[in-house]
This record gives sequence, structure tokens and C-alpha cells, in this order.
Amino acid sequence: MKRVKIVSTGSYLPEKVLTNHDLEKMVDTSDEWITTRTGIKERHIAAENEATSDLILKAAKKALEKANLKPEDLDGIIVATITPDNTYPSTACWVQKGLGLDNIPVFDIAAACTGFIYGLIMAESLIKSGLMKRVLVAGADTLSKFTNWEDRSTCVLFGDGAGVAIVEESDDESGIISRCWGANGNLGDLLIQPAGGSKMPPTKETVEKKLHTVHMEGNKVFRWAVRYMSEAALKVIKLAGMKGEDVDLFIPHQANIRIIEQARKYANIPPEKTYIVIDKIANISAATIPIALDMAIDEGRVKKGDILVFDAFGGGFTWGAILLKW
Ligand SMILES: CC(C)(COP(=O)(O)OP(=O)(O)OC[C@H]1O[C@@H](n2cnc3c(N)ncnc32)[C@H](O)[C@@H]1OP(=O)(O)O)[C@@H](O)C(=O)NCCC(=O)NCCS
Repeated sequence: MKRVKIVSTGSYLPEKVLTNHDLEKMVDTSDEWITTRTGIKERHIAAENEATSDLILKAAKKALEKANLKPEDLDGIIVATITPDNTYPSTACWVQKGLGLDNIPVFDIAAACTGFIYGLIMAESLIKSGLMKRVLVAGADTLSKFTNWEDRSTCVLFGDGAGVAIVEESDDESGIISRCWGANGNLGDLLIQPAGGSKMPPTKETVEKKLHTVHMEGNKVFRWAVRYMSEAALKVIKLAGMKGEDVDLFIPHQANIRIIEQARKYANIPPEKTYIVIDKIANISAATIPIALDMAIDEGRVKKGDILVFDAFGGGFTWGAILLKW
């Protein structure tokens, strides 16, 4: 069976940049604490009138243009996000509208920071099953809109942005070689937006208590992230019959530089083959990996035939990794 490959990428980061020094004026924190504990220096913040679908549209148009494709050439759109424009319709429907399409199947998936990997695996299986030929997979989040800007333990960690990949059947050896994905809902309460859903619909009180923003037990999340990301990276490398040294570029989810470092070491991937952009973009949940991939391509870090590994972990908990030949 033929492999499935990424034929084009695009990304978009909102114009406004919020630095650690800006945050020093907002909460009791310091550039030194944020940099040493997380690796983050700055993050991009969406404008008030910029929704998640607006960021995706900008990234999608770039990816289509690069591949010399028109929106009509797409058979489906998958959007991975936990910050949708609305609960319904799906953000994918707004993206479809923005691209001027009106009949292909489109849908959202909610797998938090692992969303782009879940989306790619779903696109791969839809293409391999023959149901679709070409799929646009987007990872996008506007976490700044669901952040408690008075909580220093979370507000320094996140940013906004969108990244997309256009995926189709491969005509050579390039494409996805191995993949793994999983979830453990027993740990859901450790990283949660408590209000705004059917469990706790929005009320004056939930808004006042900021229960529609991210709530996280950072220390516990950190330990699970290290474990699940380490195991997932090593698993896809082993499934492909390879070793860590065979990886040309490791593009992990960027939540904390210390998590990345531990996962990299566990999978035996050399540091110079690990792509780090957390300093510039912070944690953008599902958007982190596709944005990092697009940046790495622009910088000439990805060459034909290279072995790439994507690796992520997120709320749920969810995790997943993909090994592919470029
Ligand atoms: C959030 C995180 C950076 C905190 O780092 P940490 O080393 O675990 O720090 P702790 O939470 O133990 O806090 C240590 C101290 O720093 C303080 N602190 C927390 N945030 C701070 C900030 N922004 N600035 C300054 N001090 C801060 C705490 O209050 C605590 O002070 P205390 O010792 O006086 O109580 C880290 O736990 C993490 O990255 N967790 C995983 C997050 C994640 O990946 N989330 C998304 C999953 S995709």
C-alpha cells in the first residue's frame, strides 16, 4: 500500500508579540523565571477580532499557493483545536466557507496539544481507505482568549497561531512510516477548562471565577508529559525499525524545554537534530508542530529523504507520534 505524505505546509502567527518583559508588568513574574523554567521568551497574541478560523485561513492560503493548488482541489478539511470559533458550527465549517467551498466533508477534532498528530493520522487513514485523495489538516489555537491573565502559573505558557499541512498519497518512498496515538481520560482533571461546556454551562459566577480559562496542575502534567512523549517518540522509531540516531529532525510539541530535552534523551535523538522554537512561539497547543514544521522547512532544515519525527502530549491526556520520510 502506498504511503501518505505532506505535500505543502503553511503557518500564521498573529502580529502582536507579548514578551516576558511585558508579562513582568502584568503579573508577579520575571523573564529569568520564565526562561529558565520553560524556555519561553515571547509569544504571539491574536487580535480581538481574530478568531481561530481567521488564523487557519491565512495559513491555508499560503499552503495552497505553495503547492499550486486551488481550494477546489481539496477533498476534506480536518481542524484540530480546543479553542474553536464556536461550539458549533465547527471551526472547519468556517474555514471551508472562507475558502469558498460548500460541499466537501469537514470537521473538528479535540485532542488538545496532540490534535495535529491525531488529524494527520486520521487524514492518512481516510486517504488509504480511498475515501479522500487530498486533505487539509490544520492545527490552530487562540489560547490567549481562554487564559487567566492574573494567574502567573499559566498565563506565561501559551500563545496563538495556526499551522496547516496538505496531505495526499505518495508516489515514492516518502510519507508516513509509523505512527502511535493514545489517551487516558482518567487524568483529564489535571489540565482542564472547567466551565463553558454542558458540565458547567457559562453563568455570571463561572465567568467571575474565570472557570472558562485553563486550569492546570503544572507539576503533575509535567511528569506525565515527559513519560508519554518519551514513550511515543521511542515507539514510532522502533516501529520503523530505526534508532534515535537515524532521525534527521525531531519536531516535538513545545510546551516546556525541559520536557523536550527529557523526551529527546529517552529516544536517543541528538540535540542538534531537535527543532526548538519555544522561545519565539511558546505553547500553541495543536498549532505548535505544524508551525514548527513550516518554519523548519523555510529555514532549509528539511531535505528530501530526511526522517522526521513529530511527538506530542496534551490535555485529556492525549499523546501521539509520527515518523515519516520527507
Ligand atoms: C508550569 C511549569 C512551567 C511550572 O514549573 P515548575 O518548575 O513545575 O514550578 P512549580 O509549579 O513547582 O512552581 C515553583 C514556584 O514558582 C512559582 N511560579 C509559578 N509560576 C511562576 C511564574 N510565572 N513566575 C514566577 N514564579 C512562578 C510557584 O508559585 C512556585 O512558588 P513556591 O515554590 O513559592 O510555591 C511546569 O510545571 C510545566 O511546564 N508543566 C507542564 C505544563 C504543560 O506542559 N502544559 C501543557 C501540556 S501540553
